[in-house]
Amino acid sequence: MALTLIFIIFTIFLSPTKAENIKLFREYIGAEFTNVKFSDLPINPNLQFDFILSFAIDYTNSTSSPTPTNGKFNVFWDTINLSPTQVSSIKNKHPNVRVGLSLGGDSVSNNPAYFQPKSINSWVSNAVSSLTHIIEHFKLDGIDIDYEHFKGDPDTFAECIGQLISILKRKGLVKYASIAPFDDQDVQIHYQTLWKKYGHVIDYVNFQFYAYDNSTTIPQFIDYFEQQRKNYKGGKILTSFISDGSKGLAPGKGFFSACEMLKKRQQLFGIFVWCADESKNLGFRYEKQSQNLLASL
Ligand SMILES: *[C@@H]1O[C@H](CO)[C@@H](O)[C@H](O)[C@H]1NC(C)=O
Ligand SMILES: *[C@@H]1O[C@H](CO)[C@@H](O)[C@H](O)[C@H]1NC(C)=O
Repeated sequence: MALTLIFIIFTIFLSPTKAENIKLFREYIGAEFTNVKFSDLPINPNLQFDFILSFAIDYTNSTSSPTPTNGKFNVFWDTINLSPTQVSSIKNKHPNVRVGLSLGGDSVSNNPAYFQPKSINSWVSNAVSSLTHIIEHFKLDGIDIDYEHFKGDPDTFAECIGQLISILKRKGLVKYASIAPFDDQDVQIHYQTLWKKYGHVIDYVNFQFYAYDNSTTIPQFIDYFEQQRKNYKGGKILTSFISDGSKGLAPGKGFFSACEMLKKRQQLFGIFVWCADESKNLGFRYEKQSQNLLASL
């Protein structure tokens, strides 16, 4: 009896990070204006499929010279092909589809898109109100954080983003949140500070494995994965590739073998792709292969 109780307590409290594969496929869409639509993509019904609209940015949406707006977000994705109507339509057609939005991104009008808050309180307040409007208008389900350039210290970033996610979740506006770091010193310091303080409100880590060099081998890829499991302890770290395979471990060069190895270890928490805009002309071949692998878990 006592032993059973100890066992139960052990099971409940000591194994919350129990490793398990997850049938989750995610793809960024809309940043490059190649007329890609949700309905262009293959969608396997036997997995969780997330579209991530790219991007909402806290800059003015003037095309000539966008300037920072301290948390007042505007939509910068292709709203002609990825409109609220099209969001509703793809979700009605495929019950396993969720649609979220990503904040930040690398650039705005060919300049770096900076995280540049005036203060924590003003940024959070502006972000909550502008994003509430966008999320309700497009009927979105989740949020992804993809700032890549910073004019704010790591603690400020952690507070702004952590508070934003917490508030959006508490208000029921988003059901899940992810972050999209990559292996750059400044980027890692910002996201790891966020993770230490607010990891409990972050559901997935979309780690940009395609930011590594394209000489990456399978053992190196596994090693990078292990490093990120230490950096984002307890996090569900997804593997990833870039459409044309020009960076990181390409799908044609061992990416899927690496995923198979992680699958055997019960550590394949999902796969994501940058990006649908570029895969469109390539026929979504590797998206299909990714989804077949995940659906077979
Ligand atoms: C710019 O953003 C404002 C406020 O969100 C919006 O009303 C306006 O339609 C947007 N303009 C363009 C060109 O996207
Ligand atoms: C690998 O990356 C280099 C630059 O980092 C690039 O010149 C080259 O084209 C890439 N190779 C492939 C196969 O995409």
